[in-house]
Amino acid sequence: MKVKFLGHACFQFDDGKYKVLVDPFLTGNPAAPLSAEEVEADYIFVTHGHGDHIGDAIAIAKRTGAVICTTVDLAEAAMQETGLEIVAGNIGGTISFPFGTAKFFQALHGSGAAGTVSCGFIFGIGGRKIYHAGDTGLTLDMQLLQDVELDAALLPIGDFYTMGPKDAVRAAQMIQPKVVIPMHYSTFDHIRQDPEQFVRALEEKELKGIVLKPGEAVEI
Ligand code: NI
Ligand code: MN
Repeated sequence: MKVKFLGHACFQFDDGKYKVLVDPFLTGNPAAPLSAEEVEADYIFVTHGHGDHIGDAIAIAKRTGAVICTTVDLAEAAMQETGLEIVAGNIGGTISFPFGTAKFFQALHGSGAAGTVSCGFIFGIGGRKIYHAGDTGLTLDMQLLQDVELDAALLPIGDFYTMGPKDAVRAAQMIQPKVVIPMHYSTFDHIRQDPEQFVRALEEKELKGIVLKPGEAVEI
């Protein structure tokens, strides 16, 4: 299972058969390693309606034929009459796909469109369990994720709009994933963070972190 970081909160999971893209903010993202015209996807997951998450989702789906998965309300607010195939679920729900499963998990954050909620996703793909937190502050709900026995947790550390590094370490302590990959930092000046320092803080708590530069991938 290859996990590739495409900058900000955008990741691509590749199980060798399916490419699953999350929060494809490439156009206008100074850290994006490739363009919305180049990226490949079979499925596109969108955690919420802020521009740095919904990003190029619709354009990429139109070009690639990828299926978009997001919340019912965001699908209604932002994706009607696009002619795209959309799978719309909601917090707490698990949906099966040809690549595996995705469960909608709550995120503590605004959502960018009236009447919609923000979420994260717990993916079951390629025999691995991966949590993409979306944008969120620290919340005790994350204690629930310890039971999932996650292989990887993708956590925001940028501060300002989401958890900062200190809260993200606390989140990781609750979640206890095999590895933490930091995201949502240093794309812009006001969310600049030192990810290596974050990894050292994780190690002090006997947790493991991996820093991926935009464009880099790791096998998990
Ligand atoms: Ni946001
Ligand atoms: Mn964001």
